[in-house]
Amino acid sequence: MRSSSLFALAGTLAAAAAQNMSLCDKYTTALLKDNNATNQYTLLTLLVNTVVIGNYTQPNKNRVPGILAPGEYMGEQVNLLPYFNGELKSSNRGGSSGVSINFLDDGGAAPLMMNMPANSTDSNQYFLLTHLYQFFGKLLDCSGYSTMNFPKYSGVDMASAHAFMALSPSEFGYFVTQVGLAATSFGVSSSDVSAVADVLNTLFGYRCSPKTTVIPEMGETLNSICQNEKCPLDPNATCDAYPNKGIVMEPELAMANATNGTGPSSTGMVPSGITTGESEFSGAATVERAAVGVVVGLLAFAVTF
Ligand code: HEM
Ligand SMILES: *[C@@H]1O[C@H](CO)[C@@H](O)[C@H](O)[C@H]1NC(C)=O
Ligand SMILES: *[C@@H]1O[C@H](CO)[C@@H](O)[C@H](O)[C@H]1NC(C)=O
Ligand SMILES: *[C@@H]1O[C@H](CO)[C@@H](O)[C@H](O)[C@H]1NC(C)=O
Ligand SMILES: *[C@@H]1O[C@H](CO)[C@@H](O)[C@H](O)[C@H]1NC(C)=O
Ligand SMILES: *[C@@H]1O[C@H](CO)[C@@H](O)[C@H](O)[C@H]1NC(C)=O
Ligand SMILES: *[C@@H]1O[C@H](CO)[C@@H](O)[C@H](O)[C@H]1NC(C)=O
Ligand SMILES: *[C@@H]1O[C@H](CO)[C@@H](O)[C@H](O)[C@H]1NC(C)=O
Repeated sequence: MRSSSLFALAGTLAAAAAQNMSLCDKYTTALLKDNNATNQYTLLTLLVNTVVIGNYTQPNKNRVPGILAPGEYMGEQVNLLPYFNGELKSSNRGGSSGVSINFLDDGGAAPLMMNMPANSTDSNQYFLLTHLYQFFGKLLDCSGYSTMNFPKYSGVDMASAHAFMALSPSEFGYFVTQVGLAATSFGVSSSDVSAVADVLNTLFGYRCSPKTTVIPEMGETLNSICQNEKCPLDPNATCDAYPNKGIVMEPELAMANATNGTGPSSTGMVPSGITTGESEFSGAATVERAAVGVVVGLLAFAVTF
């Protein structure tokens, strides 16, 4: 039965450690010692920031390109940046079609390399990054979730958030791969990484998935993130529950002829320093490393569970 298989998956994440700690608590203890809500939020900040901009902390176990860098998934080229920098009309703001939003509008990679979500607390970038910390914090079952130092998820359901992106299996797979690489770079074991990847694929990687509870206080929600026609159909598909019976259109370019120098990049919509991906992050990260040391200096690599 679907609900019990999901429950079993959630259980895998909820009690993976020998000490019966959640993955969040287990790795907070391993990397930051004191297992309190503040440190759990820091762990999620480190993880999500690395997923987004690639590895920027030292020491680390492996390179992470990050979701903003172009890459490849199972032989297919992937470039997720246009969904984040306003190049595509792919964001859901309640209308019947997508709109262009720049989510790199508050410092771009610079604050992330200082273990912050954004330069200020009122920007597209701030809300996206903090929502990701919160959401993944609940998925990884942080014990301090929804307390003063670890605010609960305050975004929308996954189907709605990604409704105008028409994400494909390779785009989705690339994202999940970056989550796995980021976790591994901090010393998360390969079996824990696989458990997380399985949950992400099961909950979000099929189209027309039926309503299920992911964030308990939100109740049952529609959760398909992989929504284009190439995505595998959920074995229990309820396409009628989705807008337009689960058929999505590819997002349009925010500006016609965007690549010829008269488009977003020359109007300031696309922040320079983000557009070329990994190589620029690496260069900038070297400059910022001293500042990162404050928190990262506390990172330990005694993951011996
Ligand atoms: C396991 C896969 C994924 C998870 C768990 C995930 C999770 C999330 C969450 C929690 C949000 C915040 C929603 C809100 O603030 O209301 C979000 C937003 C977003 N995600 Fe994903 N995501 C995934 C895959 C992807 C992929 C593959 C892309 C490809 C481009 C993507 C692009 C975005 C964008 C652009 C937003 C901002 C949407 C908006 O605020 O309108 N996500 N995602
Ligand atoms: C689909 O739903 C039915 C009825 O709730 C359930 O018996 C079945 O196990 C589900 N299949 C999957 C793969 O979740
Ligand atoms: C471990 O955690 C699970 C799920 O939270 C719980 O059902 C179980 O009783 C716990 N086991 C021990 C030995 O604490
Ligand atoms: C959490 O632990 C850190 C030390 O690792 C400490 O500085 C901080 O005050 C603690 N926070 C809370 C809320 O206990
Ligand atoms: C990313 O990780 C790789 C492999 O550990 C390392 O060679 C590289 O210097 C790291 N990049 C940054 C910016 O820390
Ligand atoms: C964000 O903060 C960084 C570091 O303080 C600074 O270099 C950068 O100019 C700021 N960017 C914006 C857009 O405020
Ligand atoms: C973009 O280019 C196409 C053909 O090259 C042209 O027909 C169209 O008018 C252009 N759009 C804008 C906004 O310049
Ligand atoms: C670039 O865009 C402008 C207007 O947006 C258009 O007039 C021009 O023809 C375009 N150039 C090329 C090479 O597409």
